[in-house]
Amino acid sequence: MTTKEIFFFLYLLLTPKATLHALLPPFTLGQRVGCSYLLFYFWLQETPKSGSSTTCPRRCNCDSAQTVQCYRIIEIPTEMPFTTKRLYISHSKIKQLQVSDFGRISGLEELILSCSGTESIENNTFKALSTLQTLELCKNKLRRIPTFLPSSLEVLKLGDNSINAIHGSDLEGLKKLRVLDIQNNLILALSFSTLSSLCSLQSLILDGNNMESVSGPLKLPKLKYLSMANNKLHSFLGHFFEPLQDLQFLSFSGNHLEKVPPDLPKSLLSLKLERNRLKTVRFRDMQHLENLSELFLSENQLSSIDGAHLLPNLIALELSRNQLQAMPLRLPARLQKLDCSNNLIRQVTAQDFQGLRNLRHLFLDNNAVSLFEAGALQRCAQLSNLALEQNLLISIPLRLPDTLARLDLKGNDIQDVGEQELKDLKQLQVLNLRNNKISSLDRKVLEYLPRLRHLYLDGNPWNCTCDLLRTRKVLMAKRTDVKGGQCVAPIGSQGESWMSSQKILQQCEDDFSSAERIKEARKEMKTDDFPSVGINVDDDYYDYEID
Ligand SMILES: *[C@@H]1O[C@H](CO)[C@@H](O)[C@H](O)[C@H]1NC(C)=O
Ligand SMILES: *[C@@H]1O[C@H](CO)[C@@H](O)[C@H](O)[C@H]1NC(C)=O
Ligand SMILES: *[C@@H]1O[C@H](CO)[C@@H](O)[C@H](O)[C@H]1NC(C)=O
Repeated sequence: MTTKEIFFFLYLLLTPKATLHALLPPFTLGQRVGCSYLLFYFWLQETPKSGSSTTCPRRCNCDSAQTVQCYRIIEIPTEMPFTTKRLYISHSKIKQLQVSDFGRISGLEELILSCSGTESIENNTFKALSTLQTLELCKNKLRRIPTFLPSSLEVLKLGDNSINAIHGSDLEGLKKLRVLDIQNNLILALSFSTLSSLCSLQSLILDGNNMESVSGPLKLPKLKYLSMANNKLHSFLGHFFEPLQDLQFLSFSGNHLEKVPPDLPKSLLSLKLERNRLKTVRFRDMQHLENLSELFLSENQLSSIDGAHLLPNLIALELSRNQLQAMPLRLPARLQKLDCSNNLIRQVTAQDFQGLRNLRHLFLDNNAVSLFEAGALQRCAQLSNLALEQNLLISIPLRLPDTLARLDLKGNDIQDVGEQELKDLKQLQVLNLRNNKISSLDRKVLEYLPRLRHLYLDGNPWNCTCDLLRTRKVLMAKRTDVKGGQCVAPIGSQGESWMSSQKILQQCEDDFSSAERIKEARKEMKTDDFPSVGINVDDDYYDYEID
């Protein structure tokens, strides 16, 4: 109802009959009342809609989709639109929640109250919210799980509070609950009978508590995702995993486990055991995990790995930051990603990679590799990413697979970069040669690399001869982004960079006879099909850059 209509309505009611006769066709009192009643009826019909936009509480935004968002408030606003379905509050100061806070908005479906210093919640506060599906009270100061939650609840998130126990009665009757997240609280122990009424639970997150051991059986038949990372777990009692017939994702990263739990559910697809105290992994005890595709074992104390081929569907294996002295033996043929970085591996042989036809990403950086057998990776016909930085290589391994897109050799002892080593790498886009002992780079080497986009050359003792300027021209024509190239020799060029120095250009120009220049220039006109990018046409010196 518009303002105009309201005025008309009042006008009809209040205007003396005489005036009306002058303005409008004659109305009887009955007609007037009838008409007013009709308008009043329309006004009532419209009230809820216009009401919600006019009564949006201070410091809140209310939109037509029945969503209210409030910031910096100190209590649940009393004048909330009573049709509110979603209420989001954050960065506020609401010490306590009570039953009366939600009386007006009993149709609430989603309540998210975070970062608001909430310490306590009166009994039954949420009980009457019979349509509440999502309740998130993260980053507050709650010391316990709210009591008497409505049975309609599907998602309950209480992360980053100070809850120190889960009581049997807390979660009773939540038969629709799918997601329970109590991460980063102070829970010491968990008796899983307290969770036994959660027959629909799919996702349980208990990361970042202080749990030392848990005892089962964990009777949650629908559970797909279980994460208990960053606790102090060292054992699992009472057939803990037995009822979990559907579990796909399991994380125990950041605990105190000394061995892989033996009776893991065979439905697992992903298993995270990083940052534990594993000294060995017995793949025989895991071979029932026929669909396991990801296994994360980084940051343990493993000194060798053998037999992962018993996991036939393994696609990613992470073993970074252990104490492996050699490459893992008998790897599964489906493997696409292998991370053995930050170990003590000294050599790489063809034997190690025999059946790994699907390997795409291989990380061997930060080891002690000094021996890399020629052609060791030849069978890995899909390899695109090879990380060999921070090893002890004195040359680039020979016969690398021609599928490589990225090759990192930073921080080795490489002196020479030869044609032979790089000539097949037609797909190479990124080559990192930073921090080696390279002093020269023949342009021919780069001509073999048609797709090179990024080349890292800093931290090498470049001898800036005029030959390097030929290389420079090739790189510019390719539009390769080059980092570094500081000259160490000759003395006169120290501190200059051969990719950008005008001084070196000048010197080299003086070295060439003009006859040679003309000859070179002619040849270039015929053969140069490089795009003329990155060329400054005002730069006289450029004409004398030699091909
Ligand atoms: C709230 O409920 C709990 C558990 O049912 C009960 O022990 C407690 O006494 C109740 N608190 C109040 C103030 O009624
Ligand atoms: C492994 O995956 C296949 C295909 O999705 C499925 O049929 C089979 O039941 C799974 N095995 C287990 C033990 O869950
Ligand atoms: C730099 O290269 C020139 C020409 O090949 C050579 O004579 C000279 O010894 C080299 N300087 C260093 C420090 O290697």
